[in-house]
Amino acid sequence: MRTVNVSLGERSYQIKIGAALLRRLGTECAALGLGRRCVIISDRNVAPRFGAAARHALRQAAFDCELLTVPAGETAKDLKTVRACYDQLAALHLERTSFVLALGGGVVGDLAGFVAATYLRGIPFVQAPTTLLAQVDSSVGGKVGVNLKAGKNLVGAFHQPRLVLCDLETLASLPEREFRSGLAEVIKYGIIHDAALFSRLERDLPALLRREPATLAAVVARCCQIKAEVVGQDETDNALRAILNFGHTVGHALEAVSHYGKYLHGEAIAIGQAAAARLSARRLGLPESQVARIETLLERAGLPTRLSATSRQREKLLSAMKLDKKVSGGEIKFVLVPNIGQARFGQTVPAAMLEQSLAPLAN
Ligand SMILES: NC(=O)c1ccc[n+]([C@@H]2O[C@H](COP(=O)([O-])OP(=O)(O)OC[C@H]3O[C@@H](n4cnc5c(N)ncnc54)[C@H](O)[C@@H]3O)[C@@H](O)[C@H]2O)c1
Ligand SMILES: [Zn+2]
Repeated sequence: MRTVNVSLGERSYQIKIGAALLRRLGTECAALGLGRRCVIISDRNVAPRFGAAARHALRQAAFDCELLTVPAGETAKDLKTVRACYDQLAALHLERTSFVLALGGGVVGDLAGFVAATYLRGIPFVQAPTTLLAQVDSSVGGKVGVNLKAGKNLVGAFHQPRLVLCDLETLASLPEREFRSGLAEVIKYGIIHDAALFSRLERDLPALLRREPATLAAVVARCCQIKAEVVGQDETDNALRAILNFGHTVGHALEAVSHYGKYLHGEAIAIGQAAAARLSARRLGLPESQVARIETLLERAGLPTRLSATSRQREKLLSAMKLDKKVSGGEIKFVLVPNIGQARFGQTVPAAMLEQSLAPLAN
C-alpha cells in the first residue's frame, strides 16, 4: 500500500492506494476516531458491486452502517438528490460525529461530499473512489458540489475528506471508455508538473491500459502526490490550483455545448489539452516536438485530440468559453506550458488565436 499525505494543517489527511483496501475500510475509519454511525452513499452501478463489501468491513469494525443508493450519472449530481440524501440521514438519526462514506466515481464523491459539508453544518466524510478519474483527481482536494440547470458545479463548498481510500481492484470493472477518460487527467499531471511522469506514461501506457497492478499503483500514487502538493499550497483555488485546469477551458465549454452528451469529461479535456498545447507553442514557445508528443500520447490512450464540429458549433464553443466561471474581466485565461512538466496559469489568449487552435487541421 502507498500513502500520500495531504498537508492542510488541522485538515490534513492521508490518501491510501493499493489492492483490496475496501476490506480494510473499517479498521482505517476506526483509526480516525470517527463516530459509530455512518452512511455509505453510492450509485446504482457501484453499490451492487462494492456496497456489501464496504458495509461488511465497516460493521466488522463495529460501525453502525447503512447503504444509500442514488441514481448513476451526472444528472444525479443535483439538489433533488441532495435533498433525498438529507431526508435519509435525518431518518437514520445521523449526528455531528457520524460520517458519510462516498463510494463511487466523481459524481458520488462530489454529491456525498456536499451532503456531508452541509448536513448539520458539516459532518466528516471519507472518500472511497472507484473510477480512475476519482482516484487521481476528484476525491482529493475537498471541492464538493452539485450542478444547477444554469451550469455545472455552481453550488458547492470546500470540505476536505478525513481519508481517501483508493482500492485499485475496484477499477477492474470500470468500462474501458471511462478508464481511458481518466487517463486524460493522468496525462495532464505529466504535462503540467512532471516531465518524468510524462516519459513514464509514454513508456508504460500499454501496461497501464491493461490495468497492470504495479504500474497502476505507481501512477495513481504519483498523480495523487501532485494533486496533494498543489492543493497543499492553494487549498481554496486562488492561484496555483488553477494549473489543474490545463485543457479545461476548452474542455468544459465543449461539454457544455454538447450538453454533456457527446464527450466524457476526459475526452473533452483531451481535445482541450491538445488545443492548449498548440496555443502554448505560439504563446510560450513550447517546442513543436513536445506538442507532437502530447498529441501522440493522448491518441495512444484512445482519446480525441481534434474537434469535429461545424463552424456554427465552433462559434457556440467560443461563446461558451466566455461564460466559464473562471473567466474574469471578459478575458479568456488559459493554463499554458512552456515545456512539458511546467505550467503557467492566467495566460491570456487572443480570440483569433484561440479559434485557430480549434480549427480542424490548422495549428
Ligand atoms: N471535486 C473535484 O475536484 C472534481 C474534479 C474532477 C471531476 N469532478 C467531477 O467528477 C464527476 C465525474 O466523475 P467520474 O468520471 O468518476 O464519473 P461517474 O462518477 O459518473 O462514474 C462514471 C460511471 O462509472 C460508473 N462506475 C463507477 N465506478 C465503477 C466501477 N468501479 N465499476 C463499474 N462502473 C463504475 C458510475 O456508476 C458511472 O456510470 C463530474 O461530476 C465532475 O464534475 C470533480
Ligand atoms: Zn478534469
